[in-house]
Amino acid sequence: MFTEAVLLLHLLLASFWVGGMLFLSIILAPFVRRLPIKDQAFQEVGRRFSFYGTFITLTLLLLTGLGNVFLIHGGNFSRSVWEKLGLFAVIVVVSLVHDLWAGKRAVESDSMKMVARTLGIINLILGIMAFYLGIRIRLGF
Ligand code: HEM
Repeated sequence: MFTEAVLLLHLLLASFWVGGMLFLSIILAPFVRRLPIKDQAFQEVGRRFSFYGTFITLTLLLLTGLGNVFLIHGGNFSRSVWEKLGLFAVIVVVSLVHDLWAGKRAVESDSMKMVARTLGIINLILGIMAFYLGIRIRLGF
């Protein structure tokens, strides 16, 4: 029961984080970009997603992910698990640079907006790669 709960939480968090980035980029951003208050709207949405997505969700993904390693895989740190931990470290760095540096300065210039946008897209790709590594771990690689 506890094992299932930890895996369920891991999957919900992964869906929220990657799904949230997909929703932001495909649904919300094209609409917000046409608003007169677009800078303010992006800052507010970004601040909230940073708090729930980057800080809370990434922390819990690490904890539940390690929980999965011990509860489901008997503490076996396979090659895919190490790859996932390495990828996770890159994700944390990209997220922090995006949220705390580029995102906050995006109001200052178009080039900074471009940097923030590019880092956001990179993070989305890294998130999908983390999904894929989760599947590889599940399949025993
Ligand atoms: C960006 C963060 C992460 C995302 C998006 C993510 C996503 C996923 C997904 C979608 C699965 C399910 C795969 C399946 O059931 O077929 C999974 C499984 C797993 N994840 Fe993560 N994960 C993340 C971080 C981590 C971290 C940091 C660890 C720690 C090592 C981890 C360890 C695991 C393990 C061990 C499984 C396999 C569970 C099983 O066998 O059913 N994950 N992950």
